Amino acid sequence: MNIKERVEEEGTVYIPWSETNPVFSWVKHRNVFRILLNILVIWSTAYAPLRLKNFLYRHILKVKIGKDSALAPGVRLDYVYPDLIEIGDDVIVGQDAVILTHEYMQDHLRFGKVHIEDGACVGAKSIVRSGVTIGEKAVLGIGSMAHKDIGEGEVWVGRPMQRLKR
Ligand SMILES: CC(C)(COP(=O)(O)OP(=O)(O)OC[C@H]1O[C@@H](n2cnc3c(N)ncnc32)[C@H](O)[C@@H]1OP(=O)(O)O)[C@@H](O)C(=O)NCCC(=O)NCCS
Repeated sequence: MNIKERVEEEGTVYIPWSETNPVFSWVKHRNVFRILLNILVIWSTAYAPLRLKNFLYRHILKVKIGKDSALAPGVRLDYVYPDLIEIGDDVIVGQDAVILTHEYMQDHLRFGKVHIEDGACVGAKSIVRSGVTIGEKAVLGIGSMAHKDIGEGEVWVGRPMQRLKR
């Protein structure tokens, strides 16, 4: 079973690692041509018109993107597994935000899906960690880091993020 199938079945997956620096072994975790294509598409479309970008990301990167969602200029999706990202309808991802679905560490690897549900807003320059869900109409503030799930309608800001109570 490949990594994507494992994540689909088990959720966030941890793989112990005992060889040298796993970053140099990236070709073992995904087809090298797929990663190069992902990088090419993400870099070349960073400042493309919103709907063209959605079209290319849906059809080439296989990212699930709902209706009327906008990925602002400079948004960086994960280069290895962008197809583990699911974005609902009417979502805003602010400029230069980063959405990760993989993490390499010296002793383990982590892979997980990211869900950004309908009407959510991921602030500019923020980071979403692998395995995290941003709930419906939730907000992750500018420059913040989502290391765990954010519930429906909640607003979280900062690094480490804290819930903004209104
Ligand atoms: C989270 C957010 C919605 C809050 O906006 P707001 O309601 O106007 O908040 P305020 O400016 O009144 O700030 C309220 C408190 O939250 C804090 N705060 C607000 N945004 C913050 C952020 N991104 N990081 C850290 N703290 C933040 C403020 O310091 C303030 O704290 P205080 O009450 O102790 O002074 C807004 O800051 C934000 O991040 N919006 C995202 C916009 C964006 O990137 N859109 C994407 C496309 S452009």
